Amino acid sequence: MVSKTLPFTQEKITEIIEKYPTPFHVYDEKAIIENARKLKEAFRDVNGFKEYFAVKALPNPYIMKLLKAEGFGADCSSLPELLLAEKTGIVGENIMFSSNDTPAEEFIKAKELGAIINLDDISHIEYLEETAGLPEIVCCRYNPGPLKEGNAIIGNPEEAKYGFTREQLFEGYRVMKEKGVKRFGMHTMVASNELDPEYFIETAKILFELIAELSKELDIKFDFVNLGGGIGIPYRPEQEQVPYHVIARGVSKAYDETIRANGLHPLKIFLECGRVITGPYGYLVTSVRHMKHIYKDYAGTDACMANLMRPALYGAYHHITVLGKENEEATHLYDVTGSLCENNDKFAIDRLLPELTRGDVLVIHDAGAHGHAMGFNYNGKLRSAEILLRPDGSFVQIRKAETIEDYFATLDMEGLTSFE
Ligand SMILES: Cc1ncc(COP(=O)(O)O)c(C=O)c1O
Repeated sequence: MVSKTLPFTQEKITEIIEKYPTPFHVYDEKAIIENARKLKEAFRDVNGFKEYFAVKALPNPYIMKLLKAEGFGADCSSLPELLLAEKTGIVGENIMFSSNDTPAEEFIKAKELGAIINLDDISHIEYLEETAGLPEIVCCRYNPGPLKEGNAIIGNPEEAKYGFTREQLFEGYRVMKEKGVKRFGMHTMVASNELDPEYFIETAKILFELIAELSKELDIKFDFVNLGGGIGIPYRPEQEQVPYHVIARGVSKAYDETIRANGLHPLKIFLECGRVITGPYGYLVTSVRHMKHIYKDYAGTDACMANLMRPALYGAYHHITVLGKENEEATHLYDVTGSLCENNDKFAIDRLLPELTRGDVLVIHDAGAHGHAMGFNYNGKLRSAEILLRPDGSFVQIRKAETIEDYFATLDMEGLTSFE
């Protein structure tokens, strides 16, 4: 069994805590870059390959800037995310804009930035035309319905609210061609945290075949296909990383068999992964605040599900290392809890760990995607800081912790005095 290790020492974390108290997320820059390069290398021979980092996974401009330097674009899903991309210098077709139930101002901003707009519904063709005007290039999100199985995070495609049906795609691209759209893309996103490389190859095959049919029937040219995100990560120590090169090889083979064979080359291949890009390289660092022994033993931390919601939301496993006790035997069974008034506010249930005491520092692994980003203020919890550990061992705060002033910033307290 592969054990999970940490890219920093206890001394380093202690140094950070002296400046920025727990809880906080810390991201390992070196590992993020190495992984980005590994992905690019694996997909080197895949035609026109580009990864659009799913900003929702870790919406921090420092991280986006690092990924931009590696040639990644940004997959944005809202106006604030579009603005994050713009402020990071990611513009034009380096942005994919995939949102749903989209308001007009988001289409307008996406168009102004020259982003590739990915429509979630056939009715959005008219809406986009009315509100922002149809761009030269448009992408449609395909929901394969019964053709594909989803999973617990994203749901079963037939039950999922996203995308066009197959019939709607034929109608949608036909209408857009008539309206003068020149270039087309196709997108899907049917699974999340999927560890089987075959899943992505199968998805590519479905899309390639559909593109071949659409191109022939409607006499249109597809510029790209976006296979979505969803590549999983080994949250559990016994799980293995998804081998990028297996996906890349399978996609290339399917490309030759369907796209080249039908004279549709070149078609660019895009991904919009979030989790696999930063997930394993981010850690939630939290201190044990209280030990409680009732019918079970609880280690209460200074973090809560507002810092990392995945265990409470999906029952997800996140590995926990007790700093300084890495070599001690895991002899005690604990529920590791947060401080929300919600009994599911637990980072781990019945987890065997070394004996814990107040003040122990816990490192919760694989919190670098869909971690801090999912935070909220329920129970008056303040969002915590984000720290970037640089390759030279230095660290920089890339997001400040919220303060009480931030919490009150949206409340008109002056108005309250005259409010009867
Ligand atoms: C449309 C879309 N693209 C990309 C992603 C990123 O998924 P992941 O982080 O699992 O790669 C998501 C995640 O929710 C999504 O909804």
